[in-house]
Amino acid sequence: MVKITSIRALEILDSRGNPTLMTKVALSDGTTGVAKVPSGASTGIHEAVELRDGGNRYGGKGVTRAVKNVNTVLAKTMSSVDPLKQKSVDDTLLEADPSKGKGKLGANAILSVSMATAVAAASHLEMELFEYLRKNVISKTAKYQLPVPMSNVINGGAHAGNDLAIQEFMILPVGAKTYPEGVRYLSEVYHTLGTRMIKRHGRMAKHVGDEGGYCGYGLKGTIDAFEEIMGAIEEAGYTPKKDVVLGIDAAASGLFKNGKYAIDGKNLDASELLEFYLELEKTFPLQTVEDPFEEEAFADFAEYMKKTRIQVVTDDLTVSNPEIVHRAIEEKAGNALLLKVNQIGSVTEAIEAATIANKADWGVVVSHRSGETGDTFIADLCVALGTGQLKTGGPARSDRVEKYNRLLEIYDVLDGKCGYPGSDFRTAWRNY
Ligand code: PGA
Ligand code: ZN
Repeated sequence: MVKITSIRALEILDSRGNPTLMTKVALSDGTTGVAKVPSGASTGIHEAVELRDGGNRYGGKGVTRAVKNVNTVLAKTMSSVDPLKQKSVDDTLLEADPSKGKGKLGANAILSVSMATAVAAASHLEMELFEYLRKNVISKTAKYQLPVPMSNVINGGAHAGNDLAIQEFMILPVGAKTYPEGVRYLSEVYHTLGTRMIKRHGRMAKHVGDEGGYCGYGLKGTIDAFEEIMGAIEEAGYTPKKDVVLGIDAAASGLFKNGKYAIDGKNLDASELLEFYLELEKTFPLQTVEDPFEEEAFADFAEYMKKTRIQVVTDDLTVSNPEIVHRAIEEKAGNALLLKVNQIGSVTEAIEAATIANKADWGVVVSHRSGETGDTFIADLCVALGTGQLKTGGPARSDRVEKYNRLLEIYDVLDGKCGYPGSDFRTAWRNY
């Protein structure tokens, strides 16, 4: 039986220049797997706990304690585990830290080992990671579909220094016939948008936010941002709604203060905010809205669900946590789950959250974090789960683009023999 012979973590930087972990798992046949852990800015209060050092070093954000936990406790515990059985890998990791939120050893430490072991196992079996995850871990058939990318072309909220309350303004290339064609749509609209905004607001508008979308310099508010994007879609030669539709992540916890939501110079209560979203849907081809209300507002999410037919995605509300996903399903508080592996801290639990969502006929959107690395695990995970949707930022900056590029590579590996959901992006997962 192949064994884990060494696990070695070190402190590296993420895309915001903050420390995170890179962990390498080596197996007895010489194969290895590497994983780098992402980190959020608009984090949910119920997310798994990133262990940070505190103190002065790196402004308190150092991860040397998490690194040490990997290199000592976890390296020792994992030496007797079968790396080809991801469920027992993750069960062992959870036993090593049964604390709520994995705060004892650090969810960042645990996740790095969970992911790197999966990568090593795939390498040992000479399989692509997406193939290994789908066949050996998720146990689904080998029919594949690539996702429709939700590309964040204008950044706001916690991810940019501008007046936009909404955190993410996204475009979805639903009219494309294939994933590579979808990427081309994104890139063309993105560049057209940049040129338009520079013309209108000057060269400061060229800058990008944390997720590779434009920083929104000069934009006055939500409607202004939408109108700019609509103009760019048309100027790039595409037809809004038919070729490209819109999405937002309001990340509304960040707007919530004293029972009201601060947006576009107004203070709205939940029902006024809901009316605002419904109005946006009527005016623009908006088809997916994430975190429209704050992270405890299950009832407001449910109210929105009664009044809309578009996709309502839960992120901070559910934090990829199987228990909370159950609650959201019961309360009809959405119809799609945002899946971030580091919100829960292990590959198996993330897959479990996705499975629970799908069983309730919810869609799943695999997602990056605003603090990323070049790691492309989520691209493979998305294909393995067959979600048909992926959120990984604007089509610029390596921390975002590496995921887009990995999917282009997967398309090539599959010789183009894979689905692309297009306008069925919400439901095509049912066929995979
Ligand atoms: P975060 O943002 O990674 O800063 O939490 C992403 C999101 O809210 O979806
Ligand atoms: Zn979000």
